[in-house]
Amino acid sequence: MTRPKPLALLLCVLFSMAASQPQAQTIDPLAPTGRWPIRDGSAARTPPMGWSSWNAFRTEITEDKVIGAAEALVSSGLAKRGYVYVNIDDGWWLQRRASDGRLQVRTQLFPSAVVQGSADTSFRPFVDRIHGLGLKAGIYTDIGRNACSQAYDLESPNLPVGSTREREVGLYGHVDQDIQLFLKDWKFDYLKVDACGLADFGADQSVVAAHAYRPMPPAIVRGRPAQTDASKIRGLYEEVAAAIRRHDPANAAFLSICAWGQADVRQWGKDVGQSWRTGEDITPSWSSLLQSFDSAAGRALYAHPGAWNDPDMLFIGAGEFDEHHLTEARSHFSLWAIINAPLLIGYDLRQAPQALLDIWGNSDVIAINQDPAGHQGVLAYSADDLQIIVKTLSDGSKAVALFNRSATSLQATLTADHLKFAKDAPIAVREVWNQQALPAFTGEMALTLAPHETRLLRVNGKRQLPGALYLSELPGLVNVAVDGVRQSELDPTIRRGMSPWSGSRSDGERPVYSGWGGAQADSAPYGTALAVGGRSFASGIGILSGSRIQIKNERRFARFTASVGIDDSTRNRKGSVRFSIYGDGRLLAHTRELAFGQAPVALAANVAGVNIIELVARTHDGSAQPVSTAWGSAALSEAAGQQ
Ligand code: GLA
Repeated sequence: MTRPKPLALLLCVLFSMAASQPQAQTIDPLAPTGRWPIRDGSAARTPPMGWSSWNAFRTEITEDKVIGAAEALVSSGLAKRGYVYVNIDDGWWLQRRASDGRLQVRTQLFPSAVVQGSADTSFRPFVDRIHGLGLKAGIYTDIGRNACSQAYDLESPNLPVGSTREREVGLYGHVDQDIQLFLKDWKFDYLKVDACGLADFGADQSVVAAHAYRPMPPAIVRGRPAQTDASKIRGLYEEVAAAIRRHDPANAAFLSICAWGQADVRQWGKDVGQSWRTGEDITPSWSSLLQSFDSAAGRALYAHPGAWNDPDMLFIGAGEFDEHHLTEARSHFSLWAIINAPLLIGYDLRQAPQALLDIWGNSDVIAINQDPAGHQGVLAYSADDLQIIVKTLSDGSKAVALFNRSATSLQATLTADHLKFAKDAPIAVREVWNQQALPAFTGEMALTLAPHETRLLRVNGKRQLPGALYLSELPGLVNVAVDGVRQSELDPTIRRGMSPWSGSRSDGERPVYSGWGGAQADSAPYGTALAVGGRSFASGIGILSGSRIQIKNERRFARFTASVGIDDSTRNRKGSVRFSIYGDGRLLAHTRELAFGQAPVALAANVAGVNIIELVARTHDGSAQPVSTAWGSAALSEAAGQQ
């Protein structure tokens, strides 16, 4: 190996320093950019669908098992329904070669990776085979030096082998080399980048000494945002995204960020990757499903085409979602569909019962998930036992999930208000799972839900706002560019199930996901109903001050209207806020400074011909604590004079 010259070394250091920094921030993050920042590559216009080895096999993967899954996707017809990714998760690697840092595949598991007459191994023949089936291939790595299995699957026979350095199979220090290998040389289409290497290999972890790992100070301390270095994590993932751009000029690769809802990934995941895990690993239990679902269900405004909340892979087929629990299995699928979650099957498809294939293959449910408008379902009603989630579809109809979280049957009432449809006009209803038309209703409809059942409906009615839609019906058009959260807080509303690993040995399960106070559809930031100066708003956007929301209007709507003000629930009652609307970077309308307790102020702007609308709520008092604000009844009208 030739030694790099000092100048080259300096440039290299400067470059890698720049690359590891968060992207250059504009001096004023609230200044409108008039630009949609989401990398909207072909791979992520709708949530990804496919298969992953993890929930089916953990580290016990083999080429036969993975190719078997790929062939089953094709022969069962699932591939035609959209399941195209075949993703290898943890367990594929043998080591990082000492001489040149090249990753070596465990050829005992993947025999086609042997390169005759060479010490190299290559996934290229395997990927070619997957591509030959008309499918796409995914691979797994870690943002740190070591992978999750090296901390949590210690009994596995498939852990990396060799010296400390040879067992450092993660990306840390090898980003460009590995991404080039995965994308350019091996031709993978999808990368899952886990984060255990930056969470679980601190010097004080017993596994580090026991397995002679090089200690890595944890940048993620789960459940402790104050000790977590979110900007470091973001910077490292940005480095990966930059390498992907270099080695995938066609902009076709998918980056799946796996930081389990930690390190404020809620805020920045959309700017860096195509999906981001919102919570811990799902297990095949009802309790775990609730937790995973909750971690993503309240984050509708952060996802849109090109960028999806990921509550983890499907566990249909195992435990409480197996073929003896079809109600729960269908609930799992309905819920993941309506919140635009990735649909990644985690089952040994070589031997799947028809009843399960019928769930994954239900094209009407899939169509809800894959609707091109990409509006994540929004919570229209939420209680500990029942939730109603409503998703706007591109044809103007809506999908509704009535979700019985409890173990007893429930009587639910679905109202026109939940659907933002007029109370005085009939609403047509179809049951999605059995494709039955139900009698149309006006005003409200009663439905019985079996324990753990989700009734999934498609409904059509007259809009509540003639010629207009509430912004909260259109989360797929929204990018929360800056959400005003200055200090991460743990979200107390996400279910805390008993740990599947340690049971009740601790003193209890505490909130672990930051994101409390983030932007909300039809709710104030901290979960109360939207209200300004005593006036309530059933619809609107609740967001902290110091925020900028972007709307991808693309010349579609002509007018934006809202009733704005400081939300009655605000923690900071002293700050005053000015609300402004921009169109393609130009100021269109603004309020004066509004104070706590003041009545809502009508704010409207003509946005005809505008591509990007931006809504800015700014405080001028310089106080550290943000103010809760409401864009009450925020709506977009098709004609200039309406609303
Ligand atoms: C983490 C991830 C899982 C899986 C395992 C592999 O726990 O969250 O999805 O990839 O690592 O070890």
